[in-house]
Formats: sequence, structure tokens, C-alpha cells
Amino acid sequence: MTNNLIGIRGSFFDFTDDPWKFVGEEEKSARFFRDGLLVTENGMIRDFGPFQKVSPKYPSLDITHIKDRLILPGFIDGHVHVPQTRVIGSFGEQLLGWLQQWIFPEEMKYKDRAYAKEGAKQCFENLLAAGTTTFQAFTTSFAVSTEEFFEEAARRNMLVIGGLTGIDRFAPADYIDSADNFQRDSARLIKTYHRTGRNIYAITPRFALGASNELMTACQNLKKEFPDTWVHTHISENPSEVTLLKDLHQCDDYLAAYEKYDLVGKKFTGGHGIYLSNDEFRRIARADAAITFCPCSNLFLGSGLFRLGRATDPEHRIRLTFGTDVGAGNRYSMINVLDEAYKIGMCNNTVLDGSIDPRQFDEAEAERNKLSPYRAFYSLTLGGAHGLYVDDRIGNFEVGKEADFVVLDWKAGQRAIKWHESLLVSDAGPTTMDEAAQLLFAVMILGDDRNVDETWIMAERAYKKTPTEQTASLR
Ligand code: GUN
Ligand code: ZN
Repeated sequence: MTNNLIGIRGSFFDFTDDPWKFVGEEEKSARFFRDGLLVTENGMIRDFGPFQKVSPKYPSLDITHIKDRLILPGFIDGHVHVPQTRVIGSFGEQLLGWLQQWIFPEEMKYKDRAYAKEGAKQCFENLLAAGTTTFQAFTTSFAVSTEEFFEEAARRNMLVIGGLTGIDRFAPADYIDSADNFQRDSARLIKTYHRTGRNIYAITPRFALGASNELMTACQNLKKEFPDTWVHTHISENPSEVTLLKDLHQCDDYLAAYEKYDLVGKKFTGGHGIYLSNDEFRRIARADAAITFCPCSNLFLGSGLFRLGRATDPEHRIRLTFGTDVGAGNRYSMINVLDEAYKIGMCNNTVLDGSIDPRQFDEAEAERNKLSPYRAFYSLTLGGAHGLYVDDRIGNFEVGKEADFVVLDWKAGQRAIKWHESLLVSDAGPTTMDEAAQLLFAVMILGDDRNVDETWIMAERAYKKTPTEQTASLR
């Protein structure tokens, strides 16, 4: 960190509100400064606005001028499995078979500290190269891998959320942990890492199907003892899982398995939520809890189509983050997540258009399924921060927040985007909010991590794309 005032000049795009609140006029939720200036001090945002207005206040400011790029708040990934880095995109199974065949054998290797450390490093580098500056992570059931995760985050000064990932059934004997061990190790890790530097700790039962009553009770005890911690898990991802779960925990629906142990409240996130009922959505909304939508994973594992328009229904609007779910998600890039999320929204509208049951057509829900560039990039930035209860610190360029941001090169990526760009903007780049939004739509549909030119953490550059390869340098 530096004590110097630093200025970043360029074209900025961020959000001040939720675009789903502004149907038909979503631009009211966003901000675009074609020639803007971000002033930071010790990594914090001190000033922000049009260059002509802000710059006279800082006559001797050291300014980095980033030209021909769009600067957005850093992307927030609500759901990543750090120890799945080496088995991303493994073949042939749906969730339960995939866990047994590919995932548990790999995660068992994270008992070894050196293996865990190298895996964490690779994962952070991939995420930084994708423009992700904050993520919520699963580790393994070994405390060493959780330690290496937080140590890696601290070295990079990144705001992360994570925790020891508890499982005491439905996995090989060498991998499961006892509820007592889990509670003891989690308590020690919370005391060591929670709110040290930028680290945030999440009590992390892997999923209710892998948790006995004893493990769930351990989580309940931890949350009672450390009420400031977050809670992170999976929910309602796959039909076989949902069916088995109801018998195991003797509950009417998936959410009830977590409610029974007082885990569903503020700072709770469940990954997926594909098969949630309207009643579960209502209870999640009332509890002010969150769901993470992981479209790449949901398609890769054939889990199902998340009901985006239902999750954003104002009658029970839930907090929502988007996530890669690497390694079931086959991309680290949140740009790819938007691409697949858009398609899932469109597929949901095929169902809603009456082709299945005309009586269920809901025009408003169909509209909410449309992932416009405003809704999309809000979900990766301010929306993601809101979902994870860190919007007081990150998510946009408000004064007082921490200066994490991503620099997008809309001309990079596949050839098609170059052709597209020429239709949309002049050589000087987008001049209006509408042009910038259209460009962002092209990036999310045609682009990928090649469009990420730089990633900055607390006003320091942590990643710069090189012409020949995409590597993130360890600072
Ligand atoms: N449910 C329990 N564990 C996992 C996991 O590792 N990935 C996904 N996608 N779902 C899970
Ligand atoms: Zn997951």
C-alpha cells in the first residue's frame, strides 16, 4: 500500500442502484463518465467524478491515464471452489457422480500444505486474470488448505470470504471430518483469520446432503459463538440431491434443512437454488439471505435452469450474486458467466412463452429474465457486493470504498467482437451511457478473459495482460 494520492483517468462505468428496480429505464441505476477521474489515498477512494470537475482540486496529483478502455469496479465471484483448480471441466457426470469420481479424490490431496499452497496460487492467478477482485470460496475439510487460502489472499491484499468446508458423510472415509473436529478447527480459523486484513470468514457446511445433524449443530454453535461470521453452502442444485436431502433431514424443502439450525439470515449464501419454490424464495427474502446463480456450472453439470425472473420478483426479491462455481463451472471469467446467464434467461422465456403451459405465462417474469448489460454488470459489481454484504466496502466507485477495479479492452477477444465494435462506437470509444452499455453487451456475449486488460487491487495494479500470455504477477 502507498500513502501517495493516486489518480486514475479514463472512462468509468459503475452502478448506484439495482437496475431491476428500473424496468424500461435501467440507465437510472448506472453512472458513466467518458472522461473521469478516480482519486485514491492508501487504496481507498477519496474522490470520483468527471475529470474537468475533480482534477482542479488536486493540482499535483500523480495521474495514470488509461486510454481506450472501460474501467469498472472489480468483478465479484460469489462461489468458487479453490481446490478444484486442477480438475476444472471434468467429463461425464452430473453432480453426485461428479463429486465422487473427480472432486473428492482431488480435494483429498489438499491435506498436503505444499499442494494446497500451489493450488491456491493458481486459482488466485486465474481469477485475477479474469478481472475478479473478490470471491467467496470453498476450501476443503483440511484446515491447512483453508490457511493457505487466507494466506494467499493476504499476500495479494484481496477481499475474500471463505472457510473450512465441512463434510461428515457422503464422501470417502479419508475425506470426511467429525463434527467435533470441524467445530474446533473452524473456531481456531475464525479467531486467526476473520477480519484480519481484508479476510472474512464464512462458516461453510459443504451442503446439507454431506452434513449429519451433528455437523449442522456444529455450524449452529459456531454461528452463535461468532455471530459476525458469514455462512456459505450449496442449496437445491440437482434433482437427485434434493430428493435424497428431504429424507436425510426430514424436512419439507431444502431451505428448511438450514433454517432448522438457524443458519439462514443476513450473510447467508446458498449456491445455485435452481429448484427453490416460491415459498422458499419468500423465506430467503424475509431472512435477507442470498443465492448465487452459477450458470456455467448449471449447464456443465446439467443441473438445470435457474429462475432469474423469479429470484428478482419484487414481491420476494432476494439478494443475488453470480458465480463461476469453478471447477463445475468451466470458466474463471465472470464475462463467460454473463454469457451463459443470458442464455438461461432466454431459455426460461421459452418456457414462459406458453410452449409448456400457456396458463403459466407471466409477462413480468419473462421481462425480468432478460439479462441486459445493466443487470448483468450490476450483478458482477454492486449487486454481488450487496449479495455478499460487502457493499459498504466495494462494488462501485463511491467515496470511502476500497479501490478494486478492472480495465476492459473491448477490442480484445475473438475476431467477431472487432467487427461488432466498429458498428457501435467510434475510434474514441463510447461517448454516451447507452453506447457504453451496448459495448458491454457485446463484451459479455462475444468476449471472455481476453477482454480483461488490467486488474487493480486497492489502487495497485495486480494483473496486466501480456501480448503472448495471460499471467498474473505475484506482488
Ligand atoms: N455440492 C456439494 N459440493 C459441491 C461442489 O463441489 N460443487 C458443486 N457444484 N456442488 C456441490
Ligand atoms: Zn459449488
